[in-house]
Parts: sequence; structure tokens; C-alpha cells
Amino acid sequence: MAHEVTGVIARSKGAPVELATVIVPDPGPGEALVRVQACGVCHTDLHYREGGIGGDFPYLLGHEAAGIVEAVGGGVTDVAPGDFVILNWRAVCGQCRACRRGRPWYCFATRNAAQKMTLADGSVLSPALGIGAFAGKTLVAAGQCTKVSPRVRPEVAGLLGCGVMAGLGAALNTGQVSRGDSVAVIGCGGVGCAAVLGARLAGAGTVIGVDIDDRKLAWARELGATDTVNSRAADPVERIRELTGGHGADVVIEAVGRPETYTQAFYARDLAGTVVLVGVPTPDMRLELPLLDVFGRGGQLRSSWYGDCLPDRDFPMLTDLHLRGRLPLEKFVTETIPLDGVEEAFAKMGRGEVLRSVVAF
Ligand code: APR
Ligand code: ZN
Ligand code: ZN
Repeated sequence: MAHEVTGVIARSKGAPVELATVIVPDPGPGEALVRVQACGVCHTDLHYREGGIGGDFPYLLGHEAAGIVEAVGGGVTDVAPGDFVILNWRAVCGQCRACRRGRPWYCFATRNAAQKMTLADGSVLSPALGIGAFAGKTLVAAGQCTKVSPRVRPEVAGLLGCGVMAGLGAALNTGQVSRGDSVAVIGCGGVGCAAVLGARLAGAGTVIGVDIDDRKLAWARELGATDTVNSRAADPVERIRELTGGHGADVVIEAVGRPETYTQAFYARDLAGTVVLVGVPTPDMRLELPLLDVFGRGGQLRSSWYGDCLPDRDFPMLTDLHLRGRLPLEKFVTETIPLDGVEEAFAKMGRGEVLRSVVAF
């Protein structure tokens, strides 16, 4: 039996999103059908709509979600109907060369549902990041469901499925921030603010938030930045050095995804420090740096994909810390919106008015 639900579709490049009837098949072997309870609006959804990720229209958008497993297909043992889960886009295969080398966060063959969701006329939908959760129900690979405590509100839990995990993981997993470290975060949107929070959680001393928008800097302070710099008003590299005894920060996290902010990150770190790039650049961008500086300044230049997270390891741990009052994830939910509010949420995102808009079902 197939399920008919309403979903948010990007039908063609650049066109506004629209609501449409989505046909969701019953789960086959290794799949799970999830009743979505909440799904955050992420930049990647907008990139899909703009054709920046590919041309496989129509897309079923939404990928930052939590919900209840409604049914599972054959051979599924890790989750069962009734489980409260966060959806992830890193269901690792266990077989590829990264998985076999014990580095599954680099898995090259992550799993998605084998069956396709369609429109009523039968046209096949491409689900955003293999999820497609701006819909009453969605079909995913069972490994894309990570069971967490049902005591976490869905609007909050879902955020760990993408942007907030990316930021937390940039600090905790990729940057390996440890107690006493000085940390600077360039770009304090949802991802950067989560990196600020992650740095605090790891016991960083000085945590400097940098942005060109004072509203974002206020959010960064609320999430634990000890200092903030508006880089329109002051040179961020100089200010970060001043705030770290003249040396630069031990870890600098770039959460914008632009060459100029990456260059700032590169020079704002202490000798032998670490730069983490979690902001996503566009294909046209180029970076130019003196190679002698790359050599002479030493340290580590790392990129962070999805916060180098392992959902089954990280989501339950982070929701547990949230329930113990140590991780105020609820602060990222600026507003909850209905399913037909996604297009307007993209506009608010563009104007920098929100950390996250979250569709609540
Ligand atoms: N210097 C400092 N901050 C900047 C600059 C700049 N030159 N340009 C933009 N910013 C700030 C914006 O003001 C905003 O607060 O960067 C922040 C980006 O945040 P969001 O637009 O809310 O995006 P976010 O969801 O945080 O994602 C950031 O990470 O995962 C990637 O694709 C995502 O590339 C994006 C980045
Ligand atoms: Zn793998
Ligand atoms: Zn996302």
C-alpha cells in the first residue's frame, strides 16, 4: 500500500517551491517509513531549488528532521514502529574503503531508500540529501533513522540532522577543541553558532564570534561566545590576535564558505593551529595563499563534512546532554512554521532574520 501525503516540491530551477501530493511506497527490505514531526529549513534546500546541486528536478525538499517510525521493511532490526528518530544523511555502508579503514564518517557509499517517492502523475522525486522530509511521511534507508529519547521536542531534535550537527561537529570532531583552547568562529549563522556552542561544550576558554551582522553576534554571545567582532567595523585577524595574547586562536572555524573569510581564518590562528572549513563554497571560488605561509605556519587545515559526525554515536549523546540542560539546542529554533511557509522561510534566511525556521507538522 502506498501513502498519499503533502510535500514541498521544487519543480524546476529557480521556481518558487510548491505544495504537491507525494506518493510514498510502503517500506521494502532495509527501508523505514517515517511520519515526520518537524523539519528545519536549511541552505541546502534553497541550493536544490536554485539548481546548485544538480538538475534532477523535481526535488522533494527538507532533510533536517525528526519523527516517528511508522513501518519498517524486511531485515530491519535497529529501529521499530513507534521509535522516535532523527533522520540522517550518513547511513554508513560498513563496506567501502573508508569504513574498512575505521573512518566511517568518510563513508563513500552511504545508504538511501531503494524505492522512489513520486508525484501523483508518477514522476519520480529526488529527495533532498536522500531524505525529503518537508512531507507528512518519508521513505528512507533504516540506517538513516537514529533512535533518540522521545523526551526531546521534535523541532529541536531534528536540527541535529544537519546544520547544528555540522557546527557542533566542526568544533568537537573535526577541530578536536579541547579544554582551555582559544577558538574563533567566522560566520555566526546557525552553523557558526553551533560551533560556538560546541567549543564551549568542549571546555574552550576564549571563544570569539565573528560576523558582519550584529544580530548574529548577539546570538553567538547567547550561545557562549566570550567575545565578538563585527568584521565590517574591525579587522577580524587583528582583533582575534589581540584577544588571544597576540598569538591567534588555537582553532579557527570558518562557517561562511568564502575565500576571504577562509583567508581570515588561515591568518587568525596561532602557529601550528587548526583551521576547520565547514562553510560550503561554490564551484567558482578560488583561494590564493602564499605557499610559504601554508608551509611555515604549520598546523592543520581541515574540512568538515556534516561535522564528521557518526549519527548513531553523536545524536543520542547530544540529545542526552540537551536533556540534562547542558546543550541549549532550543535556542536555534527561531520560529516554527507551517508546511506552506517554506518559501517565506528562504526569504527570511536570506535576510539573516533567523537561525532556523522549523516546519512543525
Ligand atoms: N564575514 C563574516 N561573516 C559573514 C561574512 C563575512 N564576510 N559573510 C557572511 N557572513 C555571515 C552571515 O552574516 C551569516 O550570519 O555568515 C553567516 C552565515 O550564516 P547562515 O547564512 O545562517 O548560514 P548557516 O546555516 O550558518 O551555514 C553557513 O555552512 O553548512 C554551510 O552551506 C552552509 O555555507 C553555509 C555555511
Ligand atoms: Zn562506507
Ligand atoms: Zn542541511
